[in-house]
Amino acid sequence: EKGGYEHFMLKEMYEQPKAIADTFSPRLKNGEIIIEELGMSPEEIRQVEKIMIVACGSASHVGHTAKYIFEDMARIPVEVDVASEFRYRNPILNDRTVVVVISQSGETADTLAALREAKKQGARVLGIVNVVGSSIAREADNVMYTWAGPEIAVATTKAYSAQLTAVYLLAMKFAYERNEISREMLSELIDELKALPIQVEMLLNNQGKIQKFANRYLAAKNIFFIGRGIDYAISMEGSLKLKEISYIHSEAYAAGELKHGTISLVEEGTLVVSLVTQKELYKKIMSNMEEVRTRGAFVMGVTLEGNLEAEKSADYTVYIPETSPYFTNSLAIIPLQLFAYYIAVGRGCDVDKPRNLAKSVTVE
Ligand code: F6R
Repeated sequence: EKGGYEHFMLKEMYEQPKAIADTFSPRLKNGEIIIEELGMSPEEIRQVEKIMIVACGSASHVGHTAKYIFEDMARIPVEVDVASEFRYRNPILNDRTVVVVISQSGETADTLAALREAKKQGARVLGIVNVVGSSIAREADNVMYTWAGPEIAVATTKAYSAQLTAVYLLAMKFAYERNEISREMLSELIDELKALPIQVEMLLNNQGKIQKFANRYLAAKNIFFIGRGIDYAISMEGSLKLKEISYIHSEAYAAGELKHGTISLVEEGTLVVSLVTQKELYKKIMSNMEEVRTRGAFVMGVTLEGNLEAEKSADYTVYIPETSPYFTNSLAIIPLQLFAYYIAVGRGCDVDKPRNLAKSVTVE
């Protein structure tokens, strides 16, 4: 059932091109984005005043990515919260707030409770869910399914990628209906979206190089992930993937925050993985890379093809293909997943069933 792969996680990583394509294909028609299950008229989309994204774990990282995209592309204020905080903090919602709950399993207890709380307060709840007919899918006002198929490995990969894709579609739909992007821009974005599956596949085929690199860090004590903007969102997911399956301590930081405390943890040889996919922020993040290198860090940079400058600030560079700045997370996550996977394999960890973790967290 693992289809020749050593682990479900590896198999599911390789299913990502399909998960992404299956999530966008049914929603693209004649150069337009059609999300019937959204159940919102163009008028209702224009009336939205706030989006609140609520989820746990990796799904909440999708929320962080979504915030950057929605605010920049559609100019709608977005709040992101983990469900366990949201449900107990008396959030401010009304009938012009759309609460987006994101969940692979559709059964996460805190996320389900957050959904109920949001409904009670009169907000419209949209679920982005992978498991058809799950509790969250049944209770949300509207459901947009991610078509990743069943995910077995505890560490999410393909469901996460499908969630990102769903968020892109939603942001593009909102941005277009609210006249924040032109038809030309929309078609360009659609073209970039359609290119993602093949680009992801290319990155997956680069696994040999990542495996070799990962093998150098099997004994690491701490690994840091840094990024700015949308690259910060992907840093969080890269860090979680690593720590949950390899048991190496890891944290993600907004790069500009390093010097407010964390940089004291950087020692000779500490690995810092730096995400460098936003051209406007290249200079800023590269100066953070220099800062940690000066303190002895070894820097792995993940950047866009053609950014040869990054090689000056990184000790080891992984390239991802050019795409829209909104979509880089879908590509940058691939080397980070592979890195986490090969470190865990190299350390002899139970990759598909990490200690203390359950696939679906149905208790609070
Ligand atoms: C990490 C991971 C978890 C889940 C989280 C939410 O790899 O899988 O962090 O993302 O438990 O689960 P769902 O999406 O089922 O609500």
